[in-house]
Parts: sequence; C-alpha cells; structure tokens
Amino acid sequence: MISYAILTAVPELVIPPRWESLELDGLRGTVMIIGASDTGKSTFARYLFQRMCRAGRWSAYLDLDIGQSTLGLPTTMNLAMAAAPGDDRFPPQGARASYFVGAITPRGHLLPTIIGAYRLQQKAVAWGAEVIIVDTTGLIDKAQGGKALKQWKIELLAPAVVIGLQRGRELEPILWPLRRDGRVRSIELPVSPHAIERPREARIARRRERLAAYFGHAQPRLLSLRQCAIYDLEWLTVGSLLALQDGEGFVLALGVVEQVDHQAGAVIVRTPLPTLSTVASVRLGAVGWDLVNQREL
Ligand SMILES: Nc1ncnc2c1ncn2[C@@H]1O[C@H](COP(=O)(O)OP(=O)(O)OP(=O)(O)O)[C@@H](O)[C@H]1O
Ligand SMILES: [Mg+2]
Repeated sequence: MISYAILTAVPELVIPPRWESLELDGLRGTVMIIGASDTGKSTFARYLFQRMCRAGRWSAYLDLDIGQSTLGLPTTMNLAMAAAPGDDRFPPQGARASYFVGAITPRGHLLPTIIGAYRLQQKAVAWGAEVIIVDTTGLIDKAQGGKALKQWKIELLAPAVVIGLQRGRELEPILWPLRRDGRVRSIELPVSPHAIERPREARIARRRERLAAYFGHAQPRLLSLRQCAIYDLEWLTVGSLLALQDGEGFVLALGVVEQVDHQAGAVIVRTPLPTLSTVASVRLGAVGWDLVNQREL
C-alpha cells in the first residue's frame, strides 16, 4: 500500500510520493504539463506552482485550457503571476493577462491556440517570471490533431521541462523524441489514483456556470464596426461570443452580440466592461452564448 501525504491547505489533495520527490533544483523557465483528459494535470500544475513559489521563485501560472479553464473564462487562455516571490496563493494574485481563442476546443483553432500560448508566455517573461508553469488541454490524440498541437507548442514555447502524466502509453508519440532531445528534460509521472473523471455533462455545466455568472452583470453597449479593428467578422451574428481587446491584443472583457444593425454598421454588445473607450480591437469567436437561456449555442 502506497502512503500519501495530505496537504492541509487543500484538504482534498493527496500528494503522491513521486510528486514530493521531484528534484526541482536549478529549475528555471517554462515547465509544461501534458496528459490526456482527467489525468490530474491542473491539480499537479497547481501543486508545482505553489511548491515553486514556496521555494522563493517568482512564478507564473499559464492556463492554456480553453474548455475547462482554471483561471479564466471558457474560450480564453490565461496567465497569472504570483504577487511577489514567495507568495503561494492560488489563484495567483499578481498581474494577469488573457488571450481569446473563441472556441472551447483547440480542434479547428490550432493557430490561435498556439500563438496565444506564445503571446502569454512572452508576457510572463516580460513581467519577470523565473518559472512559468503551463497547464494544457487533454487533447493529445493523434487523430484529432492533439499530438501535433502538443509537439508544435513544445517547439514554440521551448520549455526547459515537459512533465507527462500518463495512464498507459498514450503520451508515447509525444514523449518518445523528447527523451532524446537535449533541449528539454522530460519527466514521466503515473496518474494519481485519486484523479477522477469528469463526464461531458459536468464539463458543459461548469462552462455554463462560469459564463452565466460572468454575463449576469453585463450591460448593453453600442459598438461601432467602423471604430476599431474587427477580426473574424464572418462570425458576426446574434449570440456570437467576442473579445474586447486592449492595444496588445489581450482580453479586456468578453461580450455577446445582442443586436446587429448592418446598415448603421453598429452592434449592441452585452458585456460587463463599463466602457468601450479602451477597446482597441474586437475578435469574434466561433462559439455563441444564449443570453436568455444561459447556455452555449
Ligand atoms: N492527487 C490528487 N489528489 C486528489 N484529487 C485529485 C488528484 N489529482 C486529481 N484529482 C482530482 O481529479 C479530478 C481531475 O483532476 P484535474 O482537473 O487536475 O485533471 P485534468 O487533467 O486537469 O483534467 P482536464 O482534462 O479536464 O483538464 C479533479 O476533481 C481533481 O480534484
Ligand atoms: Mg485541467
């Protein structure tokens, strides 16, 4: 029988000895965690982030999961810095940035997924993060583009360490070349027996809860289509989810298209953002949100 230490701050977390014995000395830079769905990636990422913080390293948490986001809203990837070196609070309390992909799966949206990840990583570097813990989606299947996504994300973000959580040999196509590549250290961990599967309905319900709470306080605002840069206009329709973005292309707030007046070139957007005066660009998403029934379209 394996013995497990219990972390008092998060009572439900059971830390396997393999996690505790991980040698992290000298660890700097980007640490990417990969694995299939429900393998405990986010749980492990949080554990590692907090451990790094306690070791005095100023750390960032980069959440690339657009379907089951830990830090932000569905359809976005999110970065949060620890407020200061040594501060291990989670969610991290320091600077934040968010990038809109506009979808809840990377499938069919590989470019914004990869490019957004890079933009956020560079932001963390610019903010002085010594360590960037990267949590990822569970899409690893070759037939669905998961292997390519992970492989090219690793190529672009150039992590110092890739940590794979696997049940069997499902990560083999991704990990096999990495073991022999001097650019990256790969660490393989078994899936914790405490990792539990979240059914599809639970995933939908969680997204719905997050978006319903977010748009609960939203107000209608008039957006002139001639005022600022609009990306992916072909997705413009009532119910479209969109991102109101700052001058760097990061998310200020999300919105939902409530009315479209093509003749006037104007759109009514429901958003919690108090004013659109700071909006530099707008990016329409591939998914929609039904404001009345509060569900994905
Ligand atoms: N070591 C652990 N101790 C206790 N519970 C755990 C542990 N690892 C995972 N779990 C539980 O298992 C479930 C799935 O874990 P988690 O969300 O971390 O997986 P994931 O791989 O990030 O999933 P997803 O594919 O949805 O992103 C969660 O309810 C989590 O609390
Ligand atoms: Mg996760």
